Amino acid sequence: MTRALASWALTALMLLIVLAALEFVEHAGRLGWAGLNGEAAWSRFNSQIAAANIGIYAHMLTGAVITVLAPLQLIPVIRRRLPALHRWSGRVLVVLALVTGLGGLSYIALQGTIGGAHMSVAFAIYGLLVLLCAVQTIRHARARHWLDHRDWALRLFLLAIGSWLYRVHYAIWEPLTGRAGMDFSFTGWFDQVNLWAFYLPYLALLELALMRQGRGLFGRARA
Ligand code: HEM
Repeated sequence: MTRALASWALTALMLLIVLAALEFVEHAGRLGWAGLNGEAAWSRFNSQIAAANIGIYAHMLTGAVITVLAPLQLIPVIRRRLPALHRWSGRVLVVLALVTGLGGLSYIALQGTIGGAHMSVAFAIYGLLVLLCAVQTIRHARARHWLDHRDWALRLFLLAIGSWLYRVHYAIWEPLTGRAGMDFSFTGWFDQVNLWAFYLPYLALLELALMRQGRGLFGRARA
């Protein structure tokens, strides 16, 4: 595949992801906004702990934005033709990813998840990885380690769309199997598998792809 064709294919894939994720993004954005404005009294995410409420609703709002921003950030033509836009939206993405990760982690620490310890651990590791990848992405950009920057940005992208992928897995599984392994407290076997399946396999596949380029598993070569 020529470079130009690969670049258009990547652009099309990213736009497709943004379009497909819009319904979830709207749900997350609306619920986050309503919760922060005290207009979601009906929501199961409200607790007596104000900090937990702010954390979970803020994470939904910023999470909605990063689900869209992360794929757009990978579009080659924007990076090449509008580098200032790429830099600024990159900084915004990193800050919002940090808020998303910290908001989710604060809710887990203060309130705990609906699925209990297993869900809390899986989501907490997910949140810590979001924080790590956000910090590494900007750190390597500032140090002009472009290959490391790209690798960490790809990891961050997979994590940023991970929350949407979590729902996509359910959207595929539910009609195919009639809710096999699912229950309403998220403790069915499929629920348990999906707690890890929405980010670990995708990260592993990325590492394999990077290894084929002589990189992966946290890089070292500078370019
Ligand atoms: C990447 C973008 C993200 C988006 C768009 C997002 C969005 C959402 C939404 C909409 C919900 C509520 C689900 C519902 O309506 O039932 C939720 C729940 C939750 N999210 Fe996120 N999230 C994101 C990332 C994260 C991260 C990085 C963490 C890290 C800790 C996290 C932790 C949680 C937790 C703990 C819950 C509550 C689980 C429960 O008890 O039901 N999320 N998220």
